Amino acid sequence: MKTEYLQFTDDDLELAARLINDGQLVAFPTETVYGLGANALDEKAVESIFVAKGRPQDNPLIVHVANTSDIEKVAVLNDDAQKIIENLMPSSLTIVLKKLPIVPNCVTAGLDTVAVRMPKLQSARMFIEKCGVPIAAPSANTSTRPSPTNWQTVRDDLDGKISAVLCGEQCEVGIESTVLDLTGDTPLILRPGVVTANQIGKVLNKKVKVLSDTNAKVNSPGVRYKHYAPSCEVILNLDGDREKIEAHYKKQIELGKNPILLVSDIDQWKDHCVYSLGKTDVAVANRLYDALRFAEKRNDYIIIVFDRSGELADSILNRLTKASGGNIL
Ligand code: TXA
Ligand code: MG
Repeated sequence: MKTEYLQFTDDDLELAARLINDGQLVAFPTETVYGLGANALDEKAVESIFVAKGRPQDNPLIVHVANTSDIEKVAVLNDDAQKIIENLMPSSLTIVLKKLPIVPNCVTAGLDTVAVRMPKLQSARMFIEKCGVPIAAPSANTSTRPSPTNWQTVRDDLDGKISAVLCGEQCEVGIESTVLDLTGDTPLILRPGVVTANQIGKVLNKKVKVLSDTNAKVNSPGVRYKHYAPSCEVILNLDGDREKIEAHYKKQIELGKNPILLVSDIDQWKDHCVYSLGKTDVAVANRLYDALRFAEKRNDYIIIVFDRSGELADSILNRLTKASGGNIL
């Protein structure tokens, strides 16, 4: 299949919407990461998402809408949902609610809940609006790989496997949306992101729980799988202990490896093979997946140094832990 690379012109948007309504797959930018979109109400189209990505069938998809009023067409709203929708949408937040029968089971992997998101990026909402249907979309990467934050990365993974890519800007946030389960009495964050438990807690005037990966069981199938993994070995250092890092770097060279350091402060590591992760949490989130893909192309061993703390740092750490397969230095 030839993949079309489209722009945000009237004609190209028209074509992208037509492809979606024909049951085809179109990748599109959001402010978090690029999504791989299909008509959420078209079972065949949704099934082809799993094939293109090589994604396990039991990992449900997020349904994207252009307007808050479209959420009640796919999900049952409760009081918490109303408050979140009024105060925190659109944003980099996905809410899990009881699903309506209109949503096919293949979207939700047979669950009786559905994840719904209204992206903050206006051009993403424009595309969804043009399609006139809710859009089921996972991140637009091959399953297990780091998510794409620019259209070139979507091309690297999915060229020839999907009908079109809407080419937008580099994603501003760079890590995926916060996934918030609102089906119980206590709001539960299934996947942390830039929208934090604190922000959500203030809106709901409730304590918000964060699911830790170690006790993640059935609620969010996505947490079970290998994720964000580069093609080579990755090790994560969380204390910034220079001697330890230095010794490990040298040892890899002795073993015949070609290691690279991903760090916030490259000046400290001048005579090493090093690449900047960014100096602030916002910058690290923005650069992270690109940095992993950059490093794996040139090196065969990645040492990530990340000793930041705070709510956004914790969300980044969630991705780093997975990228390294829990391999800690
Ligand atoms: O920022 C994002 O969320 C991006 C953009 C494209 O919107 N999408 C994204 O989708 O990251 P994906 O498929 O890579 O991750 C969706 C996550 C998975 O962890 C999945 O298990 C969870 O959301 N999820 C989806 N539906 C769910 C449901 N009904 N209940 C619990 N978790 C659900
Ligand atoms: Mg993903």
